[in-house]
Amino acid sequence: METRIRKAVFPVAGLGTRFLPATKTVPKEMLPIIDRPLIQYAVDEAIEAGCDTLVFITNRYKHAVADYFDKAYELEHKLERSGKTEQLELIRNVLPEGVRAVFVTQAEALGLGHAVLCAKEVIGNEPFAVLLPDDVIWNRGPGALKQMADAAQSSGASVIAVQDVPREQTASYGIVATDAFQARQGRIRAIVEKPEPDVAPSTLAVVGRYVLNPGIFELLETTTPGAGGEIQLTDAIATLLERETVNAYRFQGTRFDCGTHLGLIEATIRYALDHEKLSDSARQLMQNALNELGVEDLE
Ligand code: G1P
Repeated sequence: METRIRKAVFPVAGLGTRFLPATKTVPKEMLPIIDRPLIQYAVDEAIEAGCDTLVFITNRYKHAVADYFDKAYELEHKLERSGKTEQLELIRNVLPEGVRAVFVTQAEALGLGHAVLCAKEVIGNEPFAVLLPDDVIWNRGPGALKQMADAAQSSGASVIAVQDVPREQTASYGIVATDAFQARQGRIRAIVEKPEPDVAPSTLAVVGRYVLNPGIFELLETTTPGAGGEIQLTDAIATLLERETVNAYRFQGTRFDCGTHLGLIEATIRYALDHEKLSDSARQLMQNALNELGVEDLE
């Protein structure tokens, strides 16, 4: 299958308990790094990769995500009237022209595999992307999904983002075993969800970016609950790779696990230090904070 991906799935139905009490009312995907919510980073990456249909798998508590992507007529009108064109552009670009958002409700939290299966009717019979908004990938060049979409387009195979993790962390990830890598890609021979360090087939972990062929849906339909009692995307991929080539892709960029406190802090620091207007002041503020707290200079 040599088609360019056009559709991207964003599972956003998780509870976000790690960020309570903030996530009592604000979905975790709406937590910001500087001025953009996490979901916007993932959406921008999908659009850059060529996607024009964004499928959000939500639940009844996630109105804020749908509201965010809805057109804010009153606000636009106000900004227009007061000549705030820069801000107007910002809110209009949340969902650029030509890109549509589709919302599908996942009635029960049955797992990531089940969330992806909820997108089946919207995706149809074409390759598509899955982006987990917790994983924010910073890169100065092309985004991770763009890199993967290019690779998938030339091989026709499904492509899954991976990175090395310390062995003691394998139980937090899907872990793959691959053939030798050619440049950034290696064919996956085995994939297992959250193995304990002593049984993990490697330390190469799945990061939340996937380009999948639509054959995955049929497999998800018959996937039974796995790790954590959930229907796992990883388990369906394990069957997919018995039928067709699935490649692991070592993307260029730095991934921040914004599903954890430290990951969100790290991402905020990185984006602040790389920000065209804020970087100098941010550096100074960080230095001041370290000095005040009696910590040695960074340098
Ligand atoms: C999910 C996937 C896992 C993957 C991880 C990446 O797990 O099931 O295979 O390694 O995302 O972030 P979660 O973090 O949702 O438990």
